[in-house]
Amino acid sequence: LDKPMVDTHGRTIRYLRISVTDRCDLRCRYCMSEKMTFLPKSKLMSLEEIAVVSERFIARGVTKIRLSGGEPLVRRDVGELVQRLGRHVGSGLEELTMTTNGTRLAEHAQQMVDAGIRRVNVSMDSLDPDRFRYITRHGDVAQVIGGIKAGRDAGLAIKINMVALKGLNEDEIAPMLAWCRDEGFDLSLIETMPLGAVDEDRTDRFLPLTKVFDDLGRQFTLTRDARTTGGPARYWRVDGGPTRLGLISPLTANFCDGCNRVRLTTEGKLYMCLGHDDQVDLKQALRDGGIDGLDAAIDAGLYAKPKRHDFQIGTPAVSRHMSVTGG
Ligand code: GTP
Ligand code: 5AD
Ligand code: SF4
Repeated sequence: LDKPMVDTHGRTIRYLRISVTDRCDLRCRYCMSEKMTFLPKSKLMSLEEIAVVSERFIARGVTKIRLSGGEPLVRRDVGELVQRLGRHVGSGLEELTMTTNGTRLAEHAQQMVDAGIRRVNVSMDSLDPDRFRYITRHGDVAQVIGGIKAGRDAGLAIKINMVALKGLNEDEIAPMLAWCRDEGFDLSLIETMPLGAVDEDRTDRFLPLTKVFDDLGRQFTLTRDARTTGGPARYWRVDGGPTRLGLISPLTANFCDGCNRVRLTTEGKLYMCLGHDDQVDLKQALRDGGIDGLDAAIDAGLYAKPKRHDFQIGTPAVSRHMSVTGG
């Protein structure tokens, strides 16, 4: 292995999240404002640059890459990127995966499986058509469910991501878990995080997962599952079956001590933490200094990786949206 990546707090980086576009066909209320300004296409890293940077990370010990966004499947050349990175699955990369909103999953699923993707996380905060439309402002839940089922038919394991929102989808959490159990999907519940200005006050929507978990425990048999995915969730088995319930609770159960990840933006900036502004410009470093320049910039970033986020309910910790760094 070339120069493993360890930060000043002793944490080894093995997980790279890449936002391949900041654009999205939806406008979920906790994530984006109704009117967003996206990056001009001229600012984006080319597919070749993303691949070169990713391959350097793989050489330096990254074993898991997640493509994210915005919505990764709205980027036109994403299929080529998936194919290119897929070649490393099994040699260096243990897992190539994606977080998607599912609207275009039906068209892409087979190609993703062929390239080596084995599982995807699909964001879906409600099963009710009107509620789903309200939360996403534009979405059609039937289209997303169609995408999920097409993904399953193509052989993808599916995990549903559901942001828990007080007064919006609170009453749908138990039905969603039952649906996932019956369909053979995993479910991750996520606390809403204060990233970027949206048009509403997240404080009003914040739902602590501690309370949600207690309520679910009365309706389902939940047994702690020690296995992790290398992500931030803690997992439980549901009713003795294969379905796993994951809780991602940055505000009520901090997981930063085990942090193993960094994030690459579509502009080529490497962010060291979701909740801080520390970053290095890998695109420029690569253009100016080739692979050595890239390595030096990665090292500088690692040196500056913060110990933990300091999210508080409601107050935006950083001004950029989740879609810039891919969550
Ligand atoms: P798995 O590989 O399935 O465990 O995926 P994941 O949970 O790492 O990724 P996913 O893209 O599905 O993200 C789920 C939620 O976790 C999103 O809201 C992310 O923003 C959040 N998340 C992922 N990594 C971090 C992190 O380092 N810190 C915080 N605070 N949230 C994170
Ligand atoms: N807080 C928590 N989760 C968020 N996501 C997007 N914005 C936020 C936020 N402010 C979720 C999406 C998707 C994942 C990548 O991040 O729903 O599932
Ligand atoms: Fe798009 Fe995902 Fe943000 Fe929703 S949460 S607006 S689907 S990037």
